[in-house]
Amino acid sequence: MTEIQHVLNEERLFPPSPEFSAKARIGSMREYQQLYDRAAENPVEFWSELARKELHWFQDFDQGMVWNEPFVEWFVGGKTNACYNCLDAHLNSETRDRNAIIWEGEPGDVRTLTYAELHEQVCKFANVLKSRGVGVGDVVSIYMPMVPELAITMLACARIGAVHSVIFGGFSAEAIADRNHDAQAKVQVTADGGWRRGKVLPLKETVDAALEKSSSVETCIVLRRTENDVVMKEDRDFWWHELMAEASSDCPAEALDSETPLFILYTSGSTGKPKGIKHTTAGYNLYAKMSFRWVFDWRPDDVYWCTADCGWITGHSYIVYGPLSNGATAVMYEGAPNHPEPDRFWELVEKHKVTTLYTAPTAIRAFIKWGDEHVEKHDLSSLRLLGTVGEGINPEAWVWYHEKIGSEKCPIVDTWWQTETGGIMMSPLPGAIPTKPGSCTVPLPGILPAIVDESGESVSEGAGGWLVFTHPWPGMLRGIWGDDERYQDVYWSKVKGSYLAGDNARKDQDGYYWIMGRIDDVINVSGHRLSTIEVESALVSHPSVAEAAAVGKSHELKGQAISAFVTIKEGEPNEELRNELKQHVRKEIGALAVPDEIRFAAAVPKTRSGKIMRRLLKDIAEGREQVGDTSTLEDYTVLANLRDDES
Ligand code: WTA
Repeated sequence: MTEIQHVLNEERLFPPSPEFSAKARIGSMREYQQLYDRAAENPVEFWSELARKELHWFQDFDQGMVWNEPFVEWFVGGKTNACYNCLDAHLNSETRDRNAIIWEGEPGDVRTLTYAELHEQVCKFANVLKSRGVGVGDVVSIYMPMVPELAITMLACARIGAVHSVIFGGFSAEAIADRNHDAQAKVQVTADGGWRRGKVLPLKETVDAALEKSSSVETCIVLRRTENDVVMKEDRDFWWHELMAEASSDCPAEALDSETPLFILYTSGSTGKPKGIKHTTAGYNLYAKMSFRWVFDWRPDDVYWCTADCGWITGHSYIVYGPLSNGATAVMYEGAPNHPEPDRFWELVEKHKVTTLYTAPTAIRAFIKWGDEHVEKHDLSSLRLLGTVGEGINPEAWVWYHEKIGSEKCPIVDTWWQTETGGIMMSPLPGAIPTKPGSCTVPLPGILPAIVDESGESVSEGAGGWLVFTHPWPGMLRGIWGDDERYQDVYWSKVKGSYLAGDNARKDQDGYYWIMGRIDDVINVSGHRLSTIEVESALVSHPSVAEAAAVGKSHELKGQAISAFVTIKEGEPNEELRNELKQHVRKEIGALAVPDEIRFAAAVPKTRSGKIMRRLLKDIAEGREQVGDTSTLEDYTVLANLRDDES
């Protein structure tokens, strides 16, 4: 049996308010359905029409899509430029003087850049890159704090056809060197440091160690941010401000073929070797633009804040390319959510009058744990829309977000997507789709999901199975950098003709999708295949629980038993609570899902992007990996601290 059972029923339904719907771009289920049906009938025509309308074409394309499974090309024969679409396209309208970026550093310094100002900076830096020999197809590696210059560097690359590879500022020298080598990066852009919890992260020092092993890198450009001492290597290292002082601001955007690579973004793979996910110019740009407009129901007076780092796909699509190609105003914040105090996010929302907040479930669970008093101190009445991304949101955390942050008036868009998909694939359109806590609801127009079993057949109604997409879309990855075979193998070999997302999902009677976790994480108890998310959500719905991770552990009789790792909101865990939690899961789901063991942890270990590291927990549950004595609280504190220092 390959289907996954679904055991947790969430019945609550939250329709958008009539006021919200009245002003929304897509204001009813009917309107959504019409758009969806039209797109599904002929996706290529649908996207081609939008591409002609929404992107600037130096030369029109002659074919909407060319599909040679598993390789796709969109808008073939056309020439455009993503930087032009993000900046130049706005210069002859009133958007010219609108803030493109409102940036706040961790110490509290604020800078704003209008579209015209951002355009000028980007043109200058594009000329700097050119002066260092960078041209179409050259790879620029970026290792920077969350400062405007990070976006400027990305856009400058796009302007001249260079390929950016952004590496999150928490990665090690080894990780940078691996990525630089894989991509054969020619130039490195970095900063002396960045601020994190009141301390300087010495980025340049890490880059120096990485560049020892990055033989392809000829030039390193260093932004001055924190003014800590750095070593500058002659003929290789140059100061950003010195190069910029000499650069001209005249730099026309290159007319680039639609399929010119725009960026590589490395994401972890199951074998350990990171995969360089490749995205190209026109299709990605269109998809980021449209998905941003639909999902965030963007309006010109919005102040939109996505709390992700540009080192992740969320930052690429929904801080840079999506918002800017629409002419939006985006807030960018450099530092930690709890510096100097745990109310920093809410202070920022109040200060900049943020209307749209897009953040991660892991952050929301942290806010719940830190206490409502930090939220209650601030006036959050500017908010009109909330979003989440990165992992499933447990219904209880969803409800907290809805009540405490959204004052029960802001719709929540739970957006499902991946580095590979380039943009949001499934999400409520906030004025049209009533939401259900824990469900990413429905696919965007032009997106065709299906749920299948291991033989590629559709599962029975309501059952869980593999999430696939049966038709290419413009934002789809174009491959894994330098590894076509792995691309074919990971995404296209298991279900003929469909993109395999690697997640399990089910579709309910209303056609809503519920993500059930990664394929590899399914827990099989006595032949019942259960989803990690459902067990975790049951645990999180207990008032004492802040966070939970569930993994399977081998069991002689049952095949697998459930082992749960639980973080509590406050106080000391005890045997009584442990039993209470087991009873709670029994009540919420049933005896089948009661964890055999519950371990209390000060925090569950996370990947650098904030996802629970289930693989590590599995090893611990199975007793495979000895991280000291893993049965004690302290060890998890150590793991958690490690994570804190890195992220
Ligand atoms: C998970 C992040 C449930 C999922 C944009 C996916 C989610 C992986 C959601 C991609 C969501 C992301 N609900 N799960 N709303 N959003 N995921 O590449 O397992 O960092 O496959 O992209 O995160 O993570 P990635």
